Amino acid sequence: MKIEVSAPSNIALIKYMGKIDTAGNRPTNSSFSFTLDELRTFVEIEKTGDKEGQDDWQPLSGPGFAPFEMSENGKIRFLRHFQSLKKELGLNGSYVVRSANNFPSDCGLASSASSFAALTLAVSKLAQESGRETPSRFELAEVSRKGSGSSCRSFFAPWALWTPTGIRPLDLPVQNLRHSVVVVTSAKKKVSSSEAHRRVVTSPLFTGRPERAEARLADLLAAFREKDWEQAYQICWSEFWDMHALFETSKPAFGYIEPGTIEVLQTIREIWQSEKDGPIVTMDAGANVHLLFRDNQTELQKKIHSFFHPKYSCFSSGAMTTSGQG
Ligand code: DP6
Repeated sequence: MKIEVSAPSNIALIKYMGKIDTAGNRPTNSSFSFTLDELRTFVEIEKTGDKEGQDDWQPLSGPGFAPFEMSENGKIRFLRHFQSLKKELGLNGSYVVRSANNFPSDCGLASSASSFAALTLAVSKLAQESGRETPSRFELAEVSRKGSGSSCRSFFAPWALWTPTGIRPLDLPVQNLRHSVVVVTSAKKKVSSSEAHRRVVTSPLFTGRPERAEARLADLLAAFREKDWEQAYQICWSEFWDMHALFETSKPAFGYIEPGTIEVLQTIREIWQSEKDGPIVTMDAGANVHLLFRDNQTELQKKIHSFFHPKYSCFSSGAMTTSGQG
């Protein structure tokens, strides 16, 4: 039996950073994300035998898949989640799990969200086809969270809210956003997000962080409900700087911001100042800059891509791999 599924990535506007429970990835604060429907991880699972303990991971190849290799640690973590899913859903035997993304791994997009969500969905489909009861989407999101926290938000679209007590979709009057990443560097990051979660609690700024994130979340949802795009931009700007300030004030301090990051951020700020409009800006635990545009800002999105080209490549969700051409 062979199962094939895919799941989308997501970009957080209010960040999950800091855990109260590392084992179950329980967050210290709520996070809120936009689902990137076109950026997906594809997972294929095939049974290889009845004996336990011989699960394996391989890259999935095929047209439309970006070349993909997982680090040894990445494979161990992925297969560990696979094994705990098998146990939870009552599956036996050995399997080969193949996976790939339809987006380049060097564009600053956390692929762990889509990878773990797709793996969770694939195992639930396998269990369903073997006659087991299918868990609800909410239950699957909870299970996926244990593999990688941010993956639980990929079960809902276009908006997902993950609070310390659960995950749910949100209905907001802002939809059909377009997403771009300005790729300042494609170098592998030195501190993983999981390590960042562990270190930020040592920052003196971590005191009050859950309260700041919750207050910003309330303000951001109000801004979206009132369709106040500029207010939303300002809140998201403060939020990613808050997270990067935690990184820089941890003990030992670490950081992701590169000279190019500052250049891109300054340019976007100048656009906002001169046009009184612009994209929402956010950053993950990396140097690259994520932009969200309204669907009536396609000209601005193209303009920004060409502005940064050829110095930095831009990746846009709608147009697979662009190098600045929009
Ligand atoms: C900065 O979900 O990658 O992207 O739960 O340890 O797998 P683990 O961490 P992960 O953390 C993502 C952190 C972030 C912000 C966010 O997506 O909310």
